Amino acid sequence: MSARILDYMRRYDYKKVVMCNDSNTGLRAVIAIHSTHLGPATGGLRMWPYATDEEAIFDALRLSRGMTYKYAAAGVNLGGGKAVIIGDPKKDKSEALLRAFARFVDQLSGEYITGEDVGTTLADMETLFTETNHVVTLPTHCGGAGDIAPATALGSVMAMKACAKRVWGTDSLRGRTVALQGLGAVGHNALRMLVEEGATVIVTDIDQQKVDTAIAKHGVTAVAPEDIYGQDVDIFAPYALGAVINDETIPQLKAKVVAGAANNILAEERHGDELERCGIVYAVDYVANSGGTIFDTDRLRKGGFQEERAWANVRKIYERTEEVFQLAERNRIPLYAAADRFAEERINSLKSVRLLEPARLPH
Ligand code: NAI
Repeated sequence: MSARILDYMRRYDYKKVVMCNDSNTGLRAVIAIHSTHLGPATGGLRMWPYATDEEAIFDALRLSRGMTYKYAAAGVNLGGGKAVIIGDPKKDKSEALLRAFARFVDQLSGEYITGEDVGTTLADMETLFTETNHVVTLPTHCGGAGDIAPATALGSVMAMKACAKRVWGTDSLRGRTVALQGLGAVGHNALRMLVEEGATVIVTDIDQQKVDTAIAKHGVTAVAPEDIYGQDVDIFAPYALGAVINDETIPQLKAKVVAGAANNILAEERHGDELERCGIVYAVDYVANSGGTIFDTDRLRKGGFQEERAWANVRKIYERTEEVFQLAERNRIPLYAAADRFAEERINSLKSVRLLEPARLPH
C-alpha cells in the first residue's frame, strides 16, 4: 500500500502526508500537504467514517491537491492541504479527540492550517483553536470571518456576471433569467443577490420548506428538482450537488451560461468539452466558488481580518474568471483546462520568488 501512495505522491508532486494516532482519545487522522509553494498548506478538516485507511489517505491527498489549485486560481497566497479524521462525526466526535488532532496540527508549526469541512463545524474550529493558532473558518469572536456563505455567494455571482459579459456583451443581470438549483447556505444568499440585480429566478430544492421561504421572500417561481435543467433560461446556476453537468442533463440545457457555487460541477472533464461544443460558457467551479475561501483566509494576511479588504478580494473573482477566458482563448483549450493552467502558471511564476534567500553580508 505504501508504495502505491508514494507513487501517487510522486506523480502529482505532493510534499508530505502525516499519519496521526492517539490511542487515548481514539484519534485516527491523516494530514495531506500537497504544496507550500505559495504559502502554508491550508484546507479543511473532514470527519467521515471511511471504510479503509487507504480510502481516507487518498481522499486527503485528492482534496489537498484541489486546494492548491483553488488558492492559486483565486489569487490567495496559500498552498494546498487537507486533513481527515476517520470516524462518524455524530458518534465519534469529542472535545478530547478534536484537541488531540489540534496538537498534531500545532506540531507542524504552521506548515498546515486547518478549517471547517464536511463533518466539522465552526464550533469545532473554536475547540481546535484552544490548542493551535493554525485554524481558519473561525467565529468572529475568535477573530475569524464568521459565516462565509455570503462571500461564496457573492463570488459566484461575480463569476456569473463575467460569463454574462462574455455571452451578451454586458454584465448586467437585469432581465436575465436564472434557474437556481439548491437553496441552502450559499444558494439562498445567491438568490437574494440575483433578485437585487434584477434577474428573474426560477428555483428548486428537495427541501420544500426552503422553497416556500424563497417564494414568500422573493416572489420567485419554483419547479420540481428534476425539471430545473430544462428550463428556458439564460443561466443555469448549480448551488446543490456535484456532477450535475452530465450525459443526461446537457441535452436538456437551454441556458447559455453555467455558473454557480457547487463543487465538482462537471461529472467528467469530457462534459466540459461538451459544454464548449454546445456554445455554453462555464464558470469553472473552483474559481467561481472561491469567495468563501478568500474571505475566510483574510485573517491570515497582514493586520488580521479586515472585512473591507476581504469583500474587495471576493469581487475580484470577476477578473479571475475573465483571465481564465483569455487564457483559454490564447491556448485554444477548454475553460476547465484553462483554470488549471492559470493556477499552475501562478504557482510556477511565484515559487522561485519564495526560494530567494535574503541577501547576506560577506564574512
Ligand atoms: P447546503 O447543504 O447548505 O445547501 C445545499 C442545498 O441543496 C440544500 O438546501 C439541499 O436541500 C439542496 N439539494 C440537495 N440535493 C438537491 C437536489 N437534487 N436538487 C435540488 N436541491 C438539492 O450547502 P451549501 O453550503 O449551500 O453549499 C452548496 C454547494 O456549494 C455545495 O456543492 C458545496 O460543496 C459548494 N460550496 C460551498 C461553500 C460554502 O461556503 N458553503 C464554498 C464552496 C463550495
